[in-house]
Amino acid sequence: MTSTDLHPEPTTLRAQRRPRTDFACTACGATQPTWAGRCPGCGEWNTLEEVVGRAMASAAVATTEAVPLADVPAGSAVPAPTGCSELDRALGGGLVPGSVTLLGGEPGIGKSTLTLQVAAGRARAGGRALLVSAEESAAQVRRRAERLGVLEDGLWLAGDADLGSILAHLDRLSPDLLVVDSIQTVHDPDVTGAPGSVAQVRACAHRLVVEAKRRGTTVLLVGHVTKEGSLAGPKVLEHVVDTVADLVGDRHHALRLLRVAKHRFGPTDELGLFAMEVGGLAPVEDPGRLFLADRAVEASGSAVLPAMEGRRPLLVELQALVVRATTPHPRRSSQGVDPRRLALLLAVLDRRAGLELGALDVYVTAVGGVQVTEPGADLPLALAVASALTGRRLGADSVACGEIGLGGEVRQVAHLERRLQEAHRLGFRRAVLPQSAPAGPDGLEVVRVRTLAEAVAATGLLGDGPAVGD
Ligand code: TYD
Ligand code: MG
Repeated sequence: MTSTDLHPEPTTLRAQRRPRTDFACTACGATQPTWAGRCPGCGEWNTLEEVVGRAMASAAVATTEAVPLADVPAGSAVPAPTGCSELDRALGGGLVPGSVTLLGGEPGIGKSTLTLQVAAGRARAGGRALLVSAEESAAQVRRRAERLGVLEDGLWLAGDADLGSILAHLDRLSPDLLVVDSIQTVHDPDVTGAPGSVAQVRACAHRLVVEAKRRGTTVLLVGHVTKEGSLAGPKVLEHVVDTVADLVGDRHHALRLLRVAKHRFGPTDELGLFAMEVGGLAPVEDPGRLFLADRAVEASGSAVLPAMEGRRPLLVELQALVVRATTPHPRRSSQGVDPRRLALLLAVLDRRAGLELGALDVYVTAVGGVQVTEPGADLPLALAVASALTGRRLGADSVACGEIGLGGEVRQVAHLERRLQEAHRLGFRRAVLPQSAPAGPDGLEVVRVRTLAEAVAATGLLGDGPAVGD
């Protein structure tokens, strides 16, 4: 090795930024300098793709002068309401002009519907919105707009997938809002790779970010997330865009949740709630009872969790059913609940509360197509299973919330006061909670328990006395 290897000639920053070849994972977005059959980031096989010219593209960003921070106009980051109340709530007021938001979600969840509604809202408010839909034909988009009743004057449509044409449309129309549905279909001929590849998605999104900032155009990019992660999408774009929002839900249910995973202009713990109806996505402003409709209050195996989604309390019913197993390996089936969490709770119920479940099939579900991931769901879920086992009801006016440890102890959860207020507002009168729980509002009795066994006893699920609420 020579001394020049150790001390290379100084070069300009620009010269250092020559195009480099990297390999990026289409599943998790991790990059690395060499190819491998398996991504070291996420362990997926055959997901590494060559990314050429990324460094070249990023060199194009540094075109503006540095300015003193105090001279930056504060008004430039003020969100503009979209007219869609739940979207505005999730984004802390609306979309910031010149910002780029990535709307991710599984196919069929409602991304095109939501973005069309937002574009139409902008047009209705007197602005101009350009919808670039490379995914569907112009006639399809028109039919959807007719169905939603949003054939507004200022709503424009282009069917191009070519990045150059999209930029030309931006020049010609100067829209306030650009929707690209989807970023996976956009193609830049100067970049290698097929549409949807990591290189294409990243380069095209990057260019659109630069244009959005330069023109002050609000940009909404739609990105598909597939369960297999086979398409390069939201994961590889998270660093490029200002805001990442995910539309989630169960396609067989009407409810859609809009979660903001990254937001440069506001909080990320707000949540937008929509119901997919015949006329598009309708805001759900009072979600309190959403999951409690049609509840069979006289059935055993049911418990209600005052859940928190972001800053919003939602009451969710958790159900359990146990039946004698017909095979040597009892089934454990869960919908909307992590199966590993269920397995853990069944073990704790067995060892710490003395409920034998070993020879039984156990089915649990979170009603309404909702996914319950918070630890506070442990206690109501365990109580629902105990209730299903003993056939005794928990009481229709009871809620429960608490994390359960392996020792069978019931641990505290956050935002209990907010949860109790909502439960009280919706007519619940009793709450089974950890020892440290605060007092509830007047009219709501708080039953404090230290362990799961205590909770099972306190709710009358085992004993001879009346079950709570009976
Ligand atoms: P879409 O917005 O096309 O989903 P994505 O763009 O995420 O793939 O919407 C998909 C589903 O929504 C489709 O199955 C039909 C349903 N839908 C409604 O129920 N009501 C409506 O008003 C619209 C436009 C769609
Ligand atoms: Mg779509």
